[in-house]
Amino acid sequence: MKEKQIITGELTLVNHQSVFSLEGKIALITGGGSGIGYDIAQCMTHAGATVIITGRREHALQEATETLGESAHYVVNDVTELNSLEGLVETIEATYGPIDILVNNAGINMKKPALEVTDADFDRIIHTNLNAVFALTRACAKRMVARQSGSILMISSMAAYYGIDRVVAYAASKSGVEGMVKVLASEFSKFNVRVNAIAPGFIETNMMKTAMSSDPDRMNKALNRTPMGKFGKPQDIGWAAVFLASEAAGYITGASLPVDGGNSIGF
Ligand code: NAI
Repeated sequence: MKEKQIITGELTLVNHQSVFSLEGKIALITGGGSGIGYDIAQCMTHAGATVIITGRREHALQEATETLGESAHYVVNDVTELNSLEGLVETIEATYGPIDILVNNAGINMKKPALEVTDADFDRIIHTNLNAVFALTRACAKRMVARQSGSILMISSMAAYYGIDRVVAYAASKSGVEGMVKVLASEFSKFNVRVNAIAPGFIETNMMKTAMSSDPDRMNKALNRTPMGKFGKPQDIGWAAVFLASEAAGYITGASLPVDGGNSIGF
């Protein structure tokens, strides 16, 4: 679509579709074969991006890319293998071109009373949700900084906002992600690289079903403090990711955007 630009004094208005468009952009989405990551990939392809999804299960990734269409591709990768991440970025850039958007979506949860959490349990969650997020972000950001262009998204959680019982390691990992967003946004701003988080409320995916299915009290508690009175859909996160990655969010960095039906402010 042809871009229509109207300059009125200090105000520059561009065609609304073009500022939200991801046309010509390349996005790497970890854990994009299912759940929230899949819907982020779907929304981004609808907005015009080429997406590369990663995950551990080739079959799931293959099925996902077939449904997503020809602008979706996959690479099998386990984010916890930190030594593989520089090579992953190099391969993707050599095959598809420079990565414009990184979405650190892959994550795991574990529900256990804090006193029963072993060091190995704690390490496992932190390794996937925090160490891997940093290592992959560093690998992509080196190149984005050199090109003076890029947008990095993290997926945080309500567990970083308030005390949800029995998810101590998960909450620590997501709180770490929130801190990382602020530091990286400060460091990378002068290189035109933005860093933001989305903090999903309770979104209907396998992860949420596992946490809620045998725990109706938890489910009712989550729903009762959500003013919109319903759980979110993965697509709700997908469209927020499109917005934050687009030019429309060009002056937004270091932010954590709750996409939660009001859960974080519900009384
Ligand atoms: P999910 O369990 O449905 O999907 C997670 C995805 O990450 C899967 O595709 C899985 O294969 C992938 N993954 C896990 N470990 C990986 C590894 N080592 N390497 C590569 N891929 C890996 O979970 P969901 O709900 O879609 O979660 C996505 C993100 O959203 C996570 O970071 C989660 O913490 C976050 N989140 C989810 C919420 C929800 O209510 N569903 C709420 C708040 C945050």
